[in-house]
Amino acid sequence: MKRIVVCGAGGFIGGHLVSRLKKDGHWVRGVDIKFNEFKKTDADEFLIADLRDPVKVDVTIDETIDEVYQLAADMGGSTYINTGEHDSDVMHNSCIINLNVLKTCSMKNVTKIFYSSSACVYPEYNQLDPDNPKCSEDTTYPAEPDSEYGWEKLFSERLYKAFERNHGLNVRIARFHNIYGPLGTFDGGREKAPAAICRKIIEAKIKKNKNIEIWGDGTQTRSFLYIDDCIQGTLDVFNSNSNEVFNVGSEEQVSINQMIEIIEDVANYKVNKNYQLDKPKGVRGRSSDNSFIQKQIGWKHTHTLKEGLIKTYNWISNQIESGTNISKFSKSSIEN
Ligand code: NAD
Ligand code: GDD
Repeated sequence: MKRIVVCGAGGFIGGHLVSRLKKDGHWVRGVDIKFNEFKKTDADEFLIADLRDPVKVDVTIDETIDEVYQLAADMGGSTYINTGEHDSDVMHNSCIINLNVLKTCSMKNVTKIFYSSSACVYPEYNQLDPDNPKCSEDTTYPAEPDSEYGWEKLFSERLYKAFERNHGLNVRIARFHNIYGPLGTFDGGREKAPAAICRKIIEAKIKKNKNIEIWGDGTQTRSFLYIDDCIQGTLDVFNSNSNEVFNVGSEEQVSINQMIEIIEDVANYKVNKNYQLDKPKGVRGRSSDNSFIQKQIGWKHTHTLKEGLIKTYNWISNQIESGTNISKFSKSSIEN
């Protein structure tokens, strides 16, 4: 049984990670600036703290902590990271969290730390052709991420590696590729395409309206990884003997139009796509290349996109029909 801190535990992936670490028998302290909106935390302790404050980080990662998973970041989908409007916040907030967490870990008894990087580190010049994006780990340099979010992730990867070299920290890094599933945000501006499009189709169906807005022309490609596969990939990377940086993504590449067709099938409802060419689009094509992680660690994703979208669509549909009660979960978490 390890004593573990999960930073960003009030978020989507952090919340799922806490549940899994508890199931695996560990003692877990979650930390975030907010509670998870959708579920009472499974953590033994949950601290509300701003990790931009080094004093709060020092209190959170105390001398008793063995391992840290650092997932806290100022982030969102294309609508949040590709307009340019949040660039200074995204870079400043996430950088300062990573600077604080690493400094504290290097001064305490933490033996191992996980950092959640992103597919957004990959160069834009390899993601111009939607049918042939190149995102293998050996194509990271020369660096040219398409967003400041990607530059921050790349800088922070290097920061973690520097602390590994100079302070003997045992570091593990995964580059997540568009993770989706239940308990992920689906409204408000930070949601990613799978959740956003599920929501739009659910709302259209409820209102008996056929028209939904889609960012871009729908021919841009992505791959989407179901949350359970992401959590298993995270633990496999964490427990591996290798300290290389690994993609944790799906290789099931689809266009946004193809993903919409799958969701229409799940919903049993056809929509008219109203393409918004002036909305944020990000790169033209992106898909995970899992050759390296499969060879080194043996991790593979197990959910097809359709299987994951069925679970996600049903969960979002339940949330919309029942009306999400944010305060309900905040209260129960405070009592925890
Ligand atoms: P999320 O936004 O749900 O979770 C991030 C959490 O960090 C949030 O709960 C947020 O409140 C918290 N946070 C932000 N600033 C904080 C601060 N100053 N102090 C304390 N907590 C703070 O996002 P997620 O999807 O769960 O992503 C988790 C990690 O994985 C992030 O680092 C993200 O960049 C990375 N990632 C996610 C995806 C994805 O598709 N979800 C893809 C690539 C990388
Ligand atoms: N969010 C969103 N909402 N995207 C839409 C929508 C919509 O209603 N309609 C179409 N899209 C398009 C976007 O324009 C983009 O081209 C594509 O769907 C995917 O958008 P997102 O899912 O929002 O983000 P992303 O894949 O560009 O980037 C995400 O994945 C990275 C890792 O792979 C982000 O979540 C990053 O933060 C993350 O690191």
